[in-house]
Amino acid sequence: MRNPRPQGYFITFEGIDTCGKSTQIKLLYNYLRKNNIETICIRDPGTTPISESIRTILLDDNNSTMSSWTELLLYEAARAQMVHEVIRPALAAGTIVLCDRFYDSTTAYQGYGRGLDLKLVKQANAIGSVHLDPDVTFFIDLDPHVAADRKQKLGDRADRLEAEGLAFQEKVRHGFCEIQTNDPDRVHRINGHQSIEEIQQDIRDIVRKCKIVD
Ligand code: TMP
Repeated sequence: MRNPRPQGYFITFEGIDTCGKSTQIKLLYNYLRKNNIETICIRDPGTTPISESIRTILLDDNNSTMSSWTELLLYEAARAQMVHEVIRPALAAGTIVLCDRFYDSTTAYQGYGRGLDLKLVKQANAIGSVHLDPDVTFFIDLDPHVAADRKQKLGDRADRLEAEGLAFQEKVRHGFCEIQTNDPDRVHRINGHQSIEEIQQDIRDIVRKCKIVD
């Protein structure tokens, strides 16, 4: 294993549902491990027992009466626990943390998707992340129509958020585009219509530029 740096690197992956994030995270994880770089993969909401319990509540399609504010606060609560229990200790040990979603998802889904006040969402994000910001974010950008086709082919049952439909996903995508425009140094937009290999190549090029791997 590479000597752990005193401070690790925090990389997040964002995009609408079925954009291909999880596949890309796995490929990058394998690549970093092959290069002897200490790396972990986690997901938001989730990862710790408390955060996974909150995830179950959030995605349960029986919870159709949940208010958007409750939803926001539950995402933040799940995240705060994950930051405390897993991310901060991992970064302090010099580990690379690959995280499937983080606070940009809250901005995109609860802010742009649900229409909650963006200033309040930003404040909530500061609490939920306990002021931890990703070093690099990959936004895998995919047309919501293509994502819907993929979802249909997979035949999976939609969770509570996925069941919101195409118009909602369009708003969320617009949110991610705005986030990228407002923070281009951190957030890299990757063309999600490319092949799996091409997307991974784009990601690795940026990872190399960040000097995470030679
Ligand atoms: P996942 O399926 O990508 O793990 O994410 C679970 C769902 O939660 C997905 O539909 C996106 C949604 N979500 C939010 O609405 N707000 C958030 O802050 C996060 C992290 C996810």
